Amino acid sequence: MDFTLTEEQLMVQEAAREFAQNELLPGVIERDEAQRFPTEQVKRMGELGFLGMMVDPKYGGSGLDTLSYALVMEELSKIDASSSVVVSVNNSLVCYGLEAYGSEEQKQNYLTRLASGEIIGAFCLSEPEAGSDATSQKTTALDKGDHYILNGTKNWITNGNSASVYIVIAQTDKEKGHKGINALIVEKGMPGFEIGPKENKLGIRGSDTHSLIFNDVKVPKKNRIGEDGFGFKFAMKTLAGGRIGIAAQALGIASGAYELAKEYAKVRKAFGTEIVNHQAIAFKLADMHTQIEAARLLVYKAAKDKDTGADYDLSGAMAKLYASQVAMDTTIEAVQIHGGNGFVKDYHVERLMRDAKITQIYEGTSEIQKIVISRSITKD
Ligand code: CAA
Repeated sequence: MDFTLTEEQLMVQEAAREFAQNELLPGVIERDEAQRFPTEQVKRMGELGFLGMMVDPKYGGSGLDTLSYALVMEELSKIDASSSVVVSVNNSLVCYGLEAYGSEEQKQNYLTRLASGEIIGAFCLSEPEAGSDATSQKTTALDKGDHYILNGTKNWITNGNSASVYIVIAQTDKEKGHKGINALIVEKGMPGFEIGPKENKLGIRGSDTHSLIFNDVKVPKKNRIGEDGFGFKFAMKTLAGGRIGIAAQALGIASGAYELAKEYAKVRKAFGTEIVNHQAIAFKLADMHTQIEAARLLVYKAAKDKDTGADYDLSGAMAKLYASQVAMDTTIEAVQIHGGNGFVKDYHVERLMRDAKITQIYEGTSEIQKIVISRSITKD
């Protein structure tokens, strides 16, 4: 498989790298510490076309391919995963879902503003008792003719308070199990919709994670995505692409930590020489480099699968499973190479290590990826 990047992909990659260095790096430590959402940075990412990367330009998007999106996710995540998760959710879970399965009216009303970055979106599937077991939705959307009445609570919602548009997965007909689930577009400010408390997190602390509460929220039927009962499949299909974005985020976190560790090892001296000259350190770098390259090939392969119309459920799950493990392993080693300095915030690697952990959890835990992979490889 040829992964030579086109001129356009190289330009997009370079634009993301420059943006991350010039506009994400300043203040990244403070945002993490204060748990401050990157409002200005998100606005700029909208201007750069990073928030609707794969959306058709006729709906306000950049019309790029999935590989370009993965390249941008990788570059942003080297510096600031709290900002890149906004890009990932808006692109993969909100814009993609609306463009692929929404009605023309929904695209005109919501997608154009979401893709241009005028507003951002959130994807609301997880509940206190329906994280991995996503078919067990307790949130209900009762059919009342021309509208639904939505009740329930969603947890750990990325962009929870910053979003204006929320795609909410809810059970309409319990008897029908997952075939009785719908995906509804809910707007901030609809009566009965409350934003719950913000989570105080281990990592991606600049990202805005909240619970959401729905009390008799009246949602017009025209806000349902797809046919009645399509909600669970909608969530699965959307998440399959989302996992490529998170895999690219994990790859970026790993690469960012590796690059910092390599540079540090070339200047830090111990026992009379730069520590890179000690095999104990050089071998760590060799392992990190090899694992990152393997993760990169899996991520690019999954992105190419999506771009060429091939099945990407399996390749996306493998990319996320492996890249998130590499992110964890690499960031731990990067802290180790930095020694005492690695344990303090100024050197960035401790934050990257904390940020890496979520990539093994959201958009399907590593254990869920193994379910997806094992079912896929054994189904014939
Ligand atoms: N594409 C299309 N359809 C799919 C599908 C896919 N990728 N995966 C499953 N389905 C369909 C199945 O075919 C089945 O339909 P039929 O009955 O018509 O055949 C239906 O969905 C139910 O599938 P399963 O029987 O496989 O369901 P299950 O209960 O065994 O669970 C699961 C499947 C893969 C474990 C699923 O529950 C899952 O992915 N769980 C993890 C959920 C998740 O990723 N949550 C992340 C939250 S969002 C988030 O983190 C966003 C953020 O803020 C960053």
